[in-house]
Amino acid sequence: MVDQAEQLRRLVSAVPQQRKILRRKRIPRVITVTSGKGGVGKTSVVINLAIALALLGKRVVIMDADLGLANVDVIIGLVPVNTLHDVIRGKKTLTEIIITGPEGVKIIPGASGLEELANLTGAQRERLIESLLSLEDMADILLIDTGAGLSQSVLSFVSAADELIVVTTSEPTAITDAYGIIKVVAKNGLHRKAKLIVNQVKNSAEGKEIAERFAQVSKKFLDLELQYLGEICSDQHVVSAVKQQQPFITLYPRAKAAQNVRAIAARLMDLSVEKPGGVRGFVSRLTAMLAQSPRSGT
Ligand SMILES: Nc1ncnc2c1ncn2[C@@H]1O[C@H](COP(=O)(O)OP(=O)(O)OP(=O)(O)O)[C@@H](O)[C@H]1O
Ligand SMILES: [Mg+2]
Repeated sequence: MVDQAEQLRRLVSAVPQQRKILRRKRIPRVITVTSGKGGVGKTSVVINLAIALALLGKRVVIMDADLGLANVDVIIGLVPVNTLHDVIRGKKTLTEIIITGPEGVKIIPGASGLEELANLTGAQRERLIESLLSLEDMADILLIDTGAGLSQSVLSFVSAADELIVVTTSEPTAITDAYGIIKVVAKNGLHRKAKLIVNQVKNSAEGKEIAERFAQVSKKFLDLELQYLGEICSDQHVVSAVKQQQPFITLYPRAKAAQNVRAIAARLMDLSVEKPGGVRGFVSRLTAMLAQSPRSGT
């Protein structure tokens, strides 16, 4: 018979082990960032949000999946030597192509090679899947920067990821195009929820007002829950930082835009994910999606 003291000892000794198991099993969040209209600030949001998340202690990897105009590295002032293309060709490993930015944020440069996914040989596909799977142990959060609009490749990334962040500005055309993206997402059953960031607002009230209307319309007509992450003010520090090829959050940490991004990072971490598929789920869905439409990968 086990006495009470023995039961307690067992309970206490089991706690650290359980924690270890939980830590090992932590599944990375895979989040695609997109917009309806181009130039609304996706890349800027991805980089600065990644750094804000890193400052919260998260290991963040950015995948640059803007197939036409990959430019994460340009904004961050780092020049990549190799891309995923070299991984697919078997010339480099993922670890060899990844570059490290501020606060240890890792960047997979200009993933223009992903366009070729549909036409990969079996060996190339295996190589890519295997190397992307290594991200599972490397990242707490994988942020994917895409191009704007409704291209097949953008939709593939949107549907492959567990979470979707849509960026818009307060401009009516940007809002209409953002709604267009969310409509396609809802109608195709890709996600039941989406997250929204309103960039380049005059003030917080403007962002909140846009988000409120957006959420109501999405709920009413699309039965989609829109979760508001927050707004980023239009801020000259952002423009100045872009010119200096540095993230505004590190260059001007006290700027309004930097404060906004830190608030967005905190809000993002507050929102939990139901049944995350992690990198494994992401990679298998992405390859399946892209393989479905070999000629529309742009
Ligand atoms: N909060 C802001 N305040 C002021 N200017 C901003 C802000 N956010 C973005 N910008 C400006 O908008 C420009 C475009 O931003 P960015 O390249 O991030 O957009 P994008 O959505 O990634 O564009 P693309 O669709 O071409 O990929 C930046 O170079 C910057 O000058
Ligand atoms: Mg961009």
